Amino acid sequence: MLKSIYTLVLASSLSVAQNMPKAAVYSGCTAPKTVALTFDDGPWIYQNVISDMLDSKGAKGTFFMNGNNYECIYGHPPVERLLKTFNSGHQICSHTWDHRDLVTLNATQIRAEADKMDSKEISTFTETFLDFYVAALFKILGVNTTFFRPPYGSYNDLVREVLSEKTFILWDLEQVMIHSNLHVHPDLRLAAPETLSVKHPSKARTSTMQLSAIAS
Ligand SMILES: *[C@@H]1O[C@H](CO)[C@@H](O)[C@H](O)[C@H]1NC(C)=O
Ligand SMILES: *[C@@H]1O[C@H](CO)[C@@H](O)[C@H](O)[C@H]1NC(C)=O
Repeated sequence: MLKSIYTLVLASSLSVAQNMPKAAVYSGCTAPKTVALTFDDGPWIYQNVISDMLDSKGAKGTFFMNGNNYECIYGHPPVERLLKTFNSGHQICSHTWDHRDLVTLNATQIRAEADKMDSKEISTFTETFLDFYVAALFKILGVNTTFFRPPYGSYNDLVREVLSEKTFILWDLEQVMIHSNLHVHPDLRLAAPETLSVKHPSKARTSTMQLSAIAS
């Protein structure tokens, strides 16, 4: 008898959890013969090398930024590089503040990892020291970003529920892999006959080699 009550309660709480709004997740492109080039883990010194190379080929990329990874996003070179890339028409999005694995964090910590980059409650900000660590991308770029890439591509239902207002963008190809038979999210700006996803812009040699390969 006790066992069946327990089962009933469990089933009912599971169904509540399933009804919670969750972030949408895209792991590939939705239009055939399109490509989205994405770069993770900046800001770092190769930011403009990559965006300039894309510009020279008439292409645009999406850069998923951390707040504090290779360098702090609020530093002067990082801010200048970000603005140059952004003003050239590339997309800047959030890759969390610290690049921590979100599935190891509780709800408060998950929220903080996201809000330090972009927050859905910017209007409530006051000018205090703590606000320095809120919505870096909004403060630097003056816009709210749309897309969010969880570090390591790692997420679970809690992460999707806590960040339900976001759109998670994963990837289906990494590094030098080029394939002709995958799909691209329609909101991403680039369309080309091949599909490629490049991660980790900090490795300039790999990144420029990859870009040369697809641009030629
Ligand atoms: C989340 O984890 C942090 C760090 O361990 C802890 O300080 C905080 O109390 C936790 N919050 C909740 C809601 O569990
Ligand atoms: C960004 O989002 C916040 C919170 O929803 C809002 O208050 C603010 O007006 C938005 N800013 C822009 C430039 O869209």
